[in-house]
Amino acid sequence: MVDPETVPRRIEGRGVTASFTPALGHAALSGFYDPVITMLTRERVWRARLLDQVAPQPGETVIDLGCGTGSFAVSLAQRAPGARIVGVDPDNDILRRAAAKAAAAGQNILFVEAFARDVAAVLGDRAADKIVSSLVFHQLPMEEKRRGLAASLRALKPGGTLHIADYGRQTGSMRMLFRIVQSLDGYENTQPNADGVLPDLIVEAGFTDVREVDVLPTLTGAIAFYRAVRP
Ligand SMILES: C[S@@+](CC[C@H](N)C(=O)[O-])C[C@H]1O[C@@H](n2cnc3c(N)ncnc32)[C@H](O)[C@@H]1O
Repeated sequence: MVDPETVPRRIEGRGVTASFTPALGHAALSGFYDPVITMLTRERVWRARLLDQVAPQPGETVIDLGCGTGSFAVSLAQRAPGARIVGVDPDNDILRRAAAKAAAAGQNILFVEAFARDVAAVLGDRAADKIVSSLVFHQLPMEEKRRGLAASLRALKPGGTLHIADYGRQTGSMRMLFRIVQSLDGYENTQPNADGVLPDLIVEAGFTDVREVDVLPTLTGAIAFYRAVRP
């Protein structure tokens, strides 16, 4: 039976009326998100690596920040039955797709409509053991990247970990391929990622032990894997 918590929930007054970049850059393309990501990003490889990196455990609370269509949230729930998995995204349409995917997979996942900057309000400060975010930060304006990381720090328990898989510094042919993403998501928000800004922003937000764990070349640019700790 599907838990009622799989129905997307709105956080009132948390700025959900403000704008955001949808999963594939334009709301009309969201229905194509899953097949496009499978085709163009070596999805199975990077999701498996990220899942191993996050290593969710039963009893843990794990937030998937910018969860999109819920693919990774479902994998987290399947890997660690007994973990509390929470998907956060400002796009109500994409959350409905995520909730349907979770229900079809028989997984109880709480989906919450909110921006990254409000992630600490979703469960409260110091509530999460882990926060994971995939292919999200390259879409965010600089101010939202900063505020999203600051809120993630607050949302994590001391010793909790942040895991980000996203387009990081692009060099050589990867810089050219990343233009595909930039043409969809816009240059202003994506270029700082291509210039390698993320690790500095993570440090600036107050995280320690900030590490680039891995980098994976794909047809749409290099995806970097970062890990950091809330002191
Ligand atoms: C490229 S999709 C990635 C989805 C998912 N994490 C995945 O791995 O497939 C980016 C997601 O970030 C969400 N997003 C955009 N702006 C956001 C913000 N300010 N805070 C949180 N999520 C945001 C979008 O709605 C979209 O679902």
